[in-house]
Amino acid sequence: MDLLNLDNVDESLNLLELGWQFRVVRVLMTGNKLGIFDALRRPLSASQVANRCGTDPNMTERLLIACCALGIVKREGNKFTLTKLGSDLLLPESPRYIGGILGHYENLWWFWTGLAEVVKTGKRDAAPSPPDEYADRWHEFWIWAMHGIAANGVGQWLAENLDLSDRHLLLDVGGGPGTYSVILCQKFPNLKAVIWDLPRTLVIAKEVVKRFEMEERITLQEGDWNKDEFGSGYDCLLMSNILHGHGSQAPMKLAKAFRALEPGGLLIIHDFLLNDEKSGPLPAALFNLMVGAYSVREMLTVVENAGFRDVRLVAYHSKRGAGLVTAVRP
Ligand SMILES: C[S@@+](CC[C@H](N)C(=O)[O-])C[C@H]1O[C@@H](n2cnc3c(N)ncnc32)[C@H](O)[C@@H]1O
Repeated sequence: MDLLNLDNVDESLNLLELGWQFRVVRVLMTGNKLGIFDALRRPLSASQVANRCGTDPNMTERLLIACCALGIVKREGNKFTLTKLGSDLLLPESPRYIGGILGHYENLWWFWTGLAEVVKTGKRDAAPSPPDEYADRWHEFWIWAMHGIAANGVGQWLAENLDLSDRHLLLDVGGGPGTYSVILCQKFPNLKAVIWDLPRTLVIAKEVVKRFEMEERITLQEGDWNKDEFGSGYDCLLMSNILHGHGSQAPMKLAKAFRALEPGGLLIIHDFLLNDEKSGPLPAALFNLMVGAYSVREMLTVVENAGFRDVRLVAYHSKRGAGLVTAVRP
């Protein structure tokens, strides 16, 4: 076979490169785990970093070079320090800190490691469990991960694509850390919000609301959608990342949302959505493999079947495979 004249060379290189991307995740997780990013608040040589973190100087330098290539660390001579992006994302005091995402990656790593067993058996728990140090903090990492995602572009995208200037009271069902409520209240001065979630999630939401000084406009409401109604009298209601496909009890949640909204109330759904052929895009396909996702058409249908009108996909973020759907309660 002629190895000089091949078809699909660009595509094969792209796929091979994509397949290697797990290394990037491990670089971020390792820098975080070893306290490397925290050490880089000021310029240090690789040996000084190694000394502070109890690591090998040579391998530390190689890790730092990889961090430079990722744009989170910069090098001046033999000194390394965090870039602005690195400080924004990797220092715990930053409002955009992604420590929760890195902890969440550690937990999800094991699902992906055990994917063959999961696919063989159809059972998610066929994958190995994460080590206790991560598994014990699963919920905390997960909810802080949601904050990291919302605070690093997704919340801003949501706000850009919604007009809530005439709305007054938003119910954020399964609102998690409440970051979307914070961003929407920051954008729309007339808006107040209620974050509705399980008690242990609200512990984190309380911290987020306080951090962004939104206590006057955002309140917290404990609730469990398996047994509680969502309340009533809202003129808008957000369901972000709680309608992940057929296993998500979407009809039950949408019926409760319908009852919680006033006539004319706006339902806002933000979730991973597959294309109608169910052949992509990749971020939605990977999320579907891990948790579940509707196609765009399926999502519109399930919302229409719950009695909502004017159901439409108002924006689609192709890079993230996520869509924003709105509908009106007649
Ligand atoms: C994937 S997170 C989404 C968080 C947030 N809406 C976002 O998009 O960032 C799912 C949320 O649903 C909440 N949740 C899970 N089970 C619940 C239940 N039975 N009742 C109420 N909330 C629940 C979790 O605590 C979590 O905050």
